[in-house]
Amino acid sequence: MIDGNKVLFSGMQATGTLTLGNYLGALKNWVTLSDEYQCFYSVVDLHSITVRQDPAELRKRARNLLTLYIAAGLDPEKNCIYYQSQVSGHAELSWILNCFTYMGELNRMTQYKDKAAKHADNINAGLFTYPVLMAADILLYQSDVVPVGKDQLQHLEITRDIAQRFNAIYGDVFTIPEPYIGKAGAKIMSLQDPSKKMSKSDENANASIYLMDDPDTIIRKFKRAVTDSEACVRYREEQPGICNLIDIYCACTGKTPEEVEKEFDGKGYGDFKLAVGEAVVDVLKPVQERFADLCKDKAYIDGIIKTNAEKANYYATKTLRKVQKKVGFPERIR
Ligand code: TYM
Repeated sequence: MIDGNKVLFSGMQATGTLTLGNYLGALKNWVTLSDEYQCFYSVVDLHSITVRQDPAELRKRARNLLTLYIAAGLDPEKNCIYYQSQVSGHAELSWILNCFTYMGELNRMTQYKDKAAKHADNINAGLFTYPVLMAADILLYQSDVVPVGKDQLQHLEITRDIAQRFNAIYGDVFTIPEPYIGKAGAKIMSLQDPSKKMSKSDENANASIYLMDDPDTIIRKFKRAVTDSEACVRYREEQPGICNLIDIYCACTGKTPEEVEKEFDGKGYGDFKLAVGEAVVDVLKPVQERFADLCKDKAYIDGIIKTNAEKANYYATKTLRKVQKKVGFPERIR
């Protein structure tokens, strides 16, 4: 609790270009939830270097991502929007939690297995302990809730396990966080292969809608989306491509799958795909416009970065000192 409010934490990596999956699965929900909680939204740049990065590119992407959080509608006066690398408590707590996490647990992480397969020439220890850093992110702020897409659920489970293990030894140190998964859009799939999730790192640009895609590109990508030969808009397992488009349409419009089925009853896929594309354009356009405006105001963004890093540091240090004391480190002499 901070000032009587429950705490929310979430973060995104500044690697690659954000996709519609990131927006509908996470960012959009962050904005909806931000009134109810004391929120921390981090640009998790420490996580990014588990995969090789070009330094200048990483810095630029991280700043764009931080700006995008604001453009998406998060008020940086109320929400703490900051870079993970500017709060050293993340790395410090992560080390301590490493000592309370088992190799066997980390070995089971599907994201690790996927990434290790993709980057076989660079299976570094950071990639392996990535979930522990994520646990540190969340536990450092005594978070009650963590809004994420479905692909992060396993990491939330290990976070809870680590926290419970620590609490069982040292007493009630950490709040046990709950995941928050949105009603629609929790797992947006590739437009070219609906059995795969839409991902920043997909080599086929037609598979993902990027947040900065212009309206023509968005409509074109939806027109090319892989569907089936059933020729009816139905929300059922046998039609994964159509299901994905319905999910996207629902997440953008607030409609239910049943309402969408009715709306497109008797209509062809061409009409439906166009409607989905237009709904996505309507959602992304204002974000893109605000982003362009915010990028022009360097001093404003610099100010936000400074104040929010201080705020995040303040709360992070509170938990960190408590943990350090519990495990037996000497008190600091001021
Ligand atoms: P990242 O950067 O891969 O993704 C950011 C958020 O977007 C969600 N997401 C999706 N949701 C629906 N459909 C998709 N296709 C899709 N792709 C991505 C993710 O679930 C996520 O919520 N490890 C995290 C970042 C992180 C974090 C944290 C998150 C670091 N520390 C602490 C929460 C709490 C990651 O790489 O997300």
